Amino acid sequence: MELTSLLLEVENHIGVITINREKSLNALNKSVMDELDFLFGEHLATLDLYGVIIKGAGEKAFAAGADITEFMALDTASGSALSAKGHRIFMQIENFHIPVIAVIHGYALGAGCELAMACHMRIATPKARFGQPEVNLGLIPGYAGTQRLPLLIGKSKAIEYTLTGDMIDANEAHRLGLVNYVEEDASAKATELINKIAQKGPIAVKNSIQAINAFYDGSKDGAAFEIDIFGKSLASEECKEGVSAFLEKRKANFRG
Ligand code: COA
Repeated sequence: MELTSLLLEVENHIGVITINREKSLNALNKSVMDELDFLFGEHLATLDLYGVIIKGAGEKAFAAGADITEFMALDTASGSALSAKGHRIFMQIENFHIPVIAVIHGYALGAGCELAMACHMRIATPKARFGQPEVNLGLIPGYAGTQRLPLLIGKSKAIEYTLTGDMIDANEAHRLGLVNYVEEDASAKATELINKIAQKGPIAVKNSIQAINAFYDGSKDGAAFEIDIFGKSLASEECKEGVSAFLEKRKANFRG
């Protein structure tokens, strides 16, 4: 698939996806969503990556929401279908096998905030602003914001911000646990985290992501999932290497 709304650059085993619709403040239109689907559903797994960074083009926004210009044509059925598609694509990101980190330097609103929340971690610059302002449009969040925001910041504050549509500045987002770090050079911090995680066992990283996500997936028994994968991990070559390296007082070599 030819990318028209996203840019993908790969450097030193890190895939950097840039939402490239600066004039619309990187609003997530159909094209952006289809290209995210292609990247996380097919293409990125074919590359030798340690992690993925998602960011927005230009100075102002990570992404200022779903593309509002596409809303007028929707009815009940097509609106629900749009929401279901967003849920599915963002779930692919959330369950991706290597760390996916959102780097947010401006507005992350509506679907932009939801995309950031689907990533495994969020690093903001001091100018970042978060929010679920859909209520101003007579709408509710549609890409799982009503589900992920309370998990990240707790129900009380999630209700407050979803009902008021107020923006959350970077320091408050950090205090609430919505972002992992606030850094002037957020990309450098994301790169540092990805490179640190790349030293660990890749199968253990993948399994940790899936087990943590299983905890709050109502269709799964998170505890049973952990018990099963823990046993399989203990019997794996990767674990044998990790434990041998510890006992032999050397650095583990997980990537061969
Ligand atoms: N969808 C489509 N276009 C959008 C957009 C969105 N979610 N957010 C911003 N844009 C467009 C604007 O329409 C404007 O286009 P124009 O230059 O053709 O008029 C351009 O991006 C710049 O936005 P503008 O509103 O002029 O910038 P601002 O600095 O004054 O305000 C925001 C920035 C983010 C506060 C404001 O754009 C906004 O409230 N956006 C909508 C946020 C939202 O409700 N998101 C949830 C959608 S479900």
